[in-house]
Amino acid sequence: MTKLAVIIMILIFTLLLECSITKHKCLLHHGFDYVKGACFCYRYIPKKLDYQGAVDSCASHNSYLAKVNRGLIQHTLEHILAQKHDGGVRIQGIRDSGKTWRYNNGKTLEYFNWNEHGHQPDLKPNEVTLLIKKSQAYRWHDDFMYRNLSSVCQIY
Ligand SMILES: *[C@@H]1O[C@H](CO)[C@@H](O)[C@H](O)[C@H]1NC(C)=O
Repeated sequence: MTKLAVIIMILIFTLLLECSITKHKCLLHHGFDYVKGACFCYRYIPKKLDYQGAVDSCASHNSYLAKVNRGLIQHTLEHILAQKHDGGVRIQGIRDSGKTWRYNNGKTLEYFNWNEHGHQPDLKPNEVTLLIKKSQAYRWHDDFMYRNLSSVCQIY
């Protein structure tokens, strides 16, 4: 195999790993939009829902709360939310009994964007869910499950 072929194979492999959903596949889902560079297939849910309501709403569209696991996705969401009337949205992540935040699949979150000026996360008992606050420069807050908020669902 030539060097070029190896490089191309690595490139294709990386692209496949990086992006598991195509625009075409994404747009087959009603109400979903696609941000190509970020491989982000999402649906904004303006309806204010508590945590379980948001999870169920995403599930009813075969999706999950959005996984904001790197700066590119955070920036992409900021652009999306800049055009929305409302400020705060639920994203994926739940805190276990300690300070560990986990995705649905049990993996720990490595990327965060806490509103440190707002002393976040304040880790109050029962503040076990995640919220992006537009009014706080899109920084993250930990928040209660019962709070009714808009949300962003993702297919990945
Ligand atoms: C959230 O919404 C539900 C259903 O509309 C309502 O019953 C509940 O009181 C709301 N909770 C809060 C904290 O506003």
